[in-house]
Amino acid sequence: KPKVAIFASGSGSNFQVIMDASRAGDLHADIVAVVTDKPHAFVVDRATAAGVSVVAFSPKDFSSKVDYETAILQELQQLEVEWLVLAGYMRLIGETILDAFPHKIVNIHPSLLPSFPGKDAIGQAMEHGVKITGVTVHYVDAGMDTGEILSQQAVEVINGDPKKTEQRIHAVEHELYTKTLQQLWRPTGSGS
Ligand code: GAR
Repeated sequence: KPKVAIFASGSGSNFQVIMDASRAGDLHADIVAVVTDKPHAFVVDRATAAGVSVVAFSPKDFSSKVDYETAILQELQQLEVEWLVLAGYMRLIGETILDAFPHKIVNIHPSLLPSFPGKDAIGQAMEHGVKITGVTVHYVDAGMDTGEILSQQAVEVINGDPKKTEQRIHAVEHELYTKTLQQLWRPTGSGS
């Protein structure tokens, strides 16, 4: 099974769903670590409860992005991590980590890319008044939400109800991320 680290900065609901799927045997992967830039984020509590190693460094404690990412990289190499899954990690991955994991980093984004990259994609979509938005899972490259797209799913905006629309988007994220990772890591020879 591929060894996987999940990068997250927030609540970690995507982490939870991926973790649960792997523990249930529905995802051919070993989630060996959570990496966060926010040591007090709720995802840390979730990881601790699940018994998963936490790698928590504050970027402000390092003099450069290279130093910050080198510290993370050392932990990842110690754990023999092979894949990185970004789930609400609100920071650009730099060259140090990119170069160490070529074509092995994926991200989920709450819009139909290339629309609304960057922060608060759901808010951006509401602001723009689109009627259909969605979710994208993609490979990570040096750009902001620009890597090769793996999967997308549309979500209809519920008129006048941004909260409900947001809930729908999150529900679709949980399903789509699990499904996409299942395809990515499908064991060879399973025939389906
Ligand atoms: C998710 O909606 C994810 O798509 C988004 O952060 C949220 C994290 O939720 N990521 C981005 O906006 C990346 N640009 P979670 O912590 O509950 O998984």
